[in-house]
Amino acid sequence: MIEDIVKACRSYRRFHQEQWIEPRTLRELVNLGRLSASAANLQPLKYIISSDPNLNARIYPTLAWAGYLRPWIGPDEGERPSAYIIILGDTEIAKNFGCDHGIAAQSIVLGAAEKGIGGCMIGSIERDRLREVLSIPVRYEILLVLALGYPKEKVVLEDVGPDGDIKYYRDAQDVHHVPKRTLDEIILAENG
Ligand SMILES: Cc1cc2nc3c(=O)[nH]c(=O)nc-3n(C[C@H](O)[C@H](O)[C@H](O)COP(=O)(O)O)c2cc1C
Repeated sequence: MIEDIVKACRSYRRFHQEQWIEPRTLRELVNLGRLSASAANLQPLKYIISSDPNLNARIYPTLAWAGYLRPWIGPDEGERPSAYIIILGDTEIAKNFGCDHGIAAQSIVLGAAEKGIGGCMIGSIERDRLREVLSIPVRYEILLVLALGYPKEKVVLEDVGPDGDIKYYRDAQDVHHVPKRTLDEIILAENG
């Protein structure tokens, strides 16, 4: 059921780094982005994929992880992503990319979840540094990075409590909790 996959499709930030993800699998995932909706059907998104451990080691330091979990600053060596998909916007096709990259990213992480692969969308990127690492021409805007791997942590959803706090947190057992606003809070009007 779609609801089960959406529930399973959490942001994971610790992985079994040694479990390699084949480039072929990344291509299959990018294909889900390719088939997704695009404003005016312009399809301005382009992708760079990496499952190369040496390149991954150079991509990792350009990303910022889980602001609410400070002083934790990201996964240790051995728990880092085994693959990345970098979503780029081709400025020769469009000047702004609207929701396209969000839609493509969600298709990709849902497809990953179906394969047991976890991921985290990362928007907090040292873009100049990443551009240098991947030799990305200025023509392409760096939109989002998808960090992927086989999850090594448990993530649970819960309702936002009466204090309204939406910050995710880790408990004493190292389980990652993600508060979600309730349906009653977010549906402002129910007609029909
Ligand atoms: C557009 C976007 C950008 C994000 N950027 C980051 C990021 O830079 N670093 C990070 O650790 N998580 C990032 N996330 C993940 C969110 O923190 C995560 O979606 C949120 O905590 C809810 O958890 P969930 O995805 O399991 O529902 C981003 C998510 C989205 C949708």
